[in-house]
Amino acid sequence: MPFELTEEQRMVRDMARDFAEKEVAPLAHELDEQERFPSETIPKLTELGFLSMMVPEAYGGLEADTLSYVLAVEEISRACASTGVVISVHNSLCAYPLSKFGSDTAKAKYLPQLAEGKLGSYCLTEPQAGSDAANQQTTATLDGDHYVLNGTKIYVTGGEQCSFMMVMAMTDKSKGTHGISAFFVEKAFEGIKLGTKEKKMGLKGSDTMELIFDNVRVPKENLLGEEGMGFKIAMITLDCGRLGIGAQALGIAQAAMEEAIKYAKERVQFGKPISEFQAIQWMIADMATEIEAGRALLYRAADLKDRGEPFSKEAAMAKLFCSEMCGRVVDKAVQIHGGYGYMRDYTVERLYRDARITRIYEGTSEIQRLVISRHMLRS
Ligand code: CAA
Repeated sequence: MPFELTEEQRMVRDMARDFAEKEVAPLAHELDEQERFPSETIPKLTELGFLSMMVPEAYGGLEADTLSYVLAVEEISRACASTGVVISVHNSLCAYPLSKFGSDTAKAKYLPQLAEGKLGSYCLTEPQAGSDAANQQTTATLDGDHYVLNGTKIYVTGGEQCSFMMVMAMTDKSKGTHGISAFFVEKAFEGIKLGTKEKKMGLKGSDTMELIFDNVRVPKENLLGEEGMGFKIAMITLDCGRLGIGAQALGIAQAAMEEAIKYAKERVQFGKPISEFQAIQWMIADMATEIEAGRALLYRAADLKDRGEPFSKEAAMAKLFCSEMCGRVVDKAVQIHGGYGYMRDYTVERLYRDARITRIYEGTSEIQRLVISRHMLRS
């Protein structure tokens, strides 16, 4: 199914590209080296609307289509994958489920704040609930007009910097996945403690935190949907989130290919630029082909969502292919750089490390294959 970007989508892409090149890329190396969050970029991202793409206009948001969102995450990630994931998690894992499943009270209270750049995060993973997301131990017990949350969440992207979070917790353990509920939680609520801040291989500009919930009282109106709908909400949210991570991987791959081409034209060995050797040319041809294939898969999945069609399988395919493709592309980009590519002064070294997580978070490649095969084998 061929399709072209609309004029509006091209404008979003060009604006994101321009902003990323001018304001995001110059910070990327420093953020990585200093393991520092891009605080100075958040007001600019807010002003340009990148943090309100999934907030409805009625609540002060941009209410962008999904393909525009994917284009923005791709372009920002091409400059800095850490900044890319801030936009992705905030929009698709926090603003999106709140807009879709939140009570009118919660939407009116929180969506304008998300649109104003108060960051959101997503708390699903627990020590025993990684790929097996249904194995939730965090509990939520109704007490009058509040739920009381107890438990520990790990690997929360943006857990340190966020103001709000989506939290999945068990309201009735006897019901399995149908006993999980989803809550919109203010970080300022009493009883939330920051735990360990993870030391990571890459994506060092984005914090990854343990969060401890100790008798946290959450108003009833902050329940998303109804009691027991939490697992479905978490899965629907991840379907959308996986488009964002596919876009992040695509942006990293594009950056790696561009770096490799630039280097191959400059680097002289055996009396000529290495771009004149077939070994290098073939690597570049494979990188370009794979990137285009990933882009087609990803844009199509986003387009399906925008048309209101089922897109869960296609989102899993796009995330699987883009993240694995990204791994192959960054590997070739380092290879083309030779020894220089192993050094921290060269961008491809960071891209190589940043790429790795895209095959793991928001569902490992193995989980994407499980989701796809279940769709394919369904009678
Ligand atoms: N949309 C709607 N409903 C869905 C759904 C979807 N995409 N996927 C599952 N469901 C529903 C099912 O239909 C089923 O409903 P019924 O019981 O009413 O029939 C229910 O949910 C249970 O589904 P499954 O039986 O498929 O559940 P499962 O235990 O086999 O798990 C899984 C399925 C795909 C393995 C799921 O656990 C999964 O996606 N795991 C990976 C979790 C993950 O991605 N974690 C990433 C952490 S978040 C993160 O990384 C964020 C960050 O900070 C960047």
